[in-house]
This record gives sequence, structure tokens and C-alpha cells, in this order.
Amino acid sequence: MNPKDDSIEHAVAEQHRRLDAMFAEALAAMRESAAADAIGEAFGRLRDALEAHLAQEDRLYYPSLCALRPVHRPVLDALVAAHDGFRARLGEIEAQMGRQDPGEAERALAAFCSAFAAHEASEEKLLKRIDAEVAEAASSR
Ligand SMILES: [Fe+2]
Ligand SMILES: [Fe+2]
Repeated sequence: MNPKDDSIEHAVAEQHRRLDAMFAEALAAMRESAAADAIGEAFGRLRDALEAHLAQEDRLYYPSLCALRPVHRPVLDALVAAHDGFRARLGEIEAQMGRQDPGEAERALAAFCSAFAAHEASEEKLLKRIDAEVAEAASSR
């Protein structure tokens, strides 16, 4: 196994790439004006995976990282706080989909995708740094 394969950054980045693919599927379904059922299924898959991912970061990864590297707590707390905003925006998009305004929902999901991609990039950058710090601390013991 590549030593980096068991890093937290690797595990989170893998989940991010799966979410990116689901964002693309949901957006494509909306843009191609697929049947409402197909759009609903793609959006439902994305929402479930996103909620599971956010919960895993909130309850598993970030509390462990805060304990391991308390110096990063303020940034980790800010990332967790951003999750509530993402959950709320996703709920709003779902409500827009139900209001028979596909254009509005599609634009909102595209904006959500961009904001979430920036969130993913900040997380991966921070996690890479924490992984490196933890590896360095382990090797100097
Ligand atoms: Fe996150
Ligand atoms: Fe994430």
C-alpha cells in the first residue's frame, strides 16, 4: 500500500471526488431536462452522500484532528460551521426543485457546486498539512 493511502487527506479527498461525480450527474440531469424522477434520484443520491460526508467530518475526522493538532482548531471549527450553511442551501435547492422552477434550481446547484469545490480544496490543503505535521512528529520520536 502506498503510505499516503491511509492518510486522512487521502480518505477525505477520495470522498470529495465521489461527491464531485455526483454533483456532475445531478447538474447534467437538470441541464438535460431529464424526467423529474431521474433528476430527483440523482439529487437524492447527492444529498444522502453529502450529508453522510459532512456528518463524518463533523463527528469523526475533525474532532480527532482537533485533539491531535489543537493549533488547527479555529480553522477546523470554521469548516464545521460552513457545513451548516451547505446543509441549509441544499434544503433550499430541494425546495426550489419542488416549485417547478428547474432553471432556478439548476443555477442554485451550480453555485453550490462552486462554493463546495472551494470548501473541498481548503480542507484537502489543511489535511495535507496536518498529515505532514503528524508524520514529522512521529518520525522525530
Ligand atoms: Fe467539509
Ligand atoms: Fe469534505
